[in-house]
Amino acid sequence: MNISVIGTGYVGLVTGVTLAEIGHEVICIDLDAQKIEKMKQAISPIYEPGLSEMMARNIADNRLIFTTNHQTGLENAEVIYIAVGTPENEDGSANLIYLEQAVKDIIAHLANDVIVIIKSTVPVGTNHKVKEQIQTAVKGRIQVEVVSNPEFLKEGSAIEDTFQGDRIIIGSDNKREAVIVEAINKPFGVPIFHTDIKSAEMIKYASNAFLATKISFMNEISNICELVGADVENVAFGMGLDNRIGGKFLKAGIGYGGSCFPKDTKALIQIAGNVNYEFELLKGVINVNRKQQMLLIEKLRHCYNTIEGKRIAVLGLAFKPNTDDVREAVSILIIEELLRQGAEVVAYDPIAIANAKVLLSSDVTYAASVENAIEGSDAALIITEWDEIKNADLNIFTKMRRPLIIDGRNCYKLDSVKSFSIEYHSIGRPSIVEVTNQTFSEIK
Ligand code: UDX
Repeated sequence: MNISVIGTGYVGLVTGVTLAEIGHEVICIDLDAQKIEKMKQAISPIYEPGLSEMMARNIADNRLIFTTNHQTGLENAEVIYIAVGTPENEDGSANLIYLEQAVKDIIAHLANDVIVIIKSTVPVGTNHKVKEQIQTAVKGRIQVEVVSNPEFLKEGSAIEDTFQGDRIIIGSDNKREAVIVEAINKPFGVPIFHTDIKSAEMIKYASNAFLATKISFMNEISNICELVGADVENVAFGMGLDNRIGGKFLKAGIGYGGSCFPKDTKALIQIAGNVNYEFELLKGVINVNRKQQMLLIEKLRHCYNTIEGKRIAVLGLAFKPNTDDVREAVSILIIEELLRQGAEVVAYDPIAIANAKVLLSSDVTYAASVENAIEGSDAALIITEWDEIKNADLNIFTKMRRPLIIDGRNCYKLDSVKSFSIEYHSIGRPSIVEVTNQTFSEIK
């Protein structure tokens, strides 16, 4: 099938490349000429395991083309995917300017009957509006149908999620298009669920909001665990043994970040608000997340009366491991607060430093390794659970000016830390405060 994909951000690029991989002829269109030139050479603008190799293979087999030209990109398309970003407006609602531009481009260059598939996360009702807008513009000359097909990819495992995902959602008003879109996706080998368009749009928001709720719930449980002396890791494991709950997304930490959960939770509150419904539970989820993001600073302030002039190592900048994405990353908020309180910040991340530099003040120093970052530091804050950090030899922390770890991701087992002279505070677990060669009050 001849497929065009508008937008080569995270979702669009992965969609285009994987559709080519299962045998479709794919043209990816983007306005950014520099990015397109790189992608033509199989250089991926995002870090995603397995993506560059798949790009290279499909470019070489002539199934994957990149262009900035909407005319050539759209004229022969039988199916057009819209995969542009829907960032957040100031009031939290989804900003649809890129979607509107994509629709204008389709109208300007449409030559044949086409199915438009919207992958972007869009408010309920948007697919119908897009269909009406295109149909009105082409005045019956061309037959256009719109199908909702939301994405559920996780950064860092997007390729795996495409081929081993839990479900593909196809929201359509007509059987004919539903069958075509099912045939396009069949080679992925993922279960397909057909539904109406509005429900498909809602499935995306509801899924992300529910996952965010699970995280905020566990974060609150972790705070209570600390107060009553329980261990949230054991609690989460025990809860997850119940099939009705499931063991995934129960990891307490320093709150969710990234390009989806923060934006989609706020957008769903707006969607509900537009029909005069107050989504109280979700508002609580967002508030809990906001508080949790500052937890490491609070814990640090319990160890030092003031952090002014203290050298603080920040380990991990990406919003989660295996990605260089720092959008809505907790690291940015924490570093800004550390600087505001007068601390000296030394940050380390295996791959996200370049992206973080764009957002952070030039006062931040960057280290080339975990060991470099913690050398001479008064505390190490663990923000991202990279394997490299989880597998670090704990002995290196004993050489810090003060061997103090405040771990926002519970990277280490309490028993492993106990055999070192390290003061260790984590999330929802008892602290380890015995430091063998100095007493706590002396260090303070
Ligand atoms: C998410 C959804 O999982 C995906 O289905 C959707 O299409 C896009 O948004 P992503 O943002 O890539 O994917 O990352 P995800 O792995 O879901 O993690 C999001 C955030 O939640 C991260 O900051 C992560 O650290 C946090 N998280 C996740 C937790 O704090 N605890 C958990 O148990 C799981």
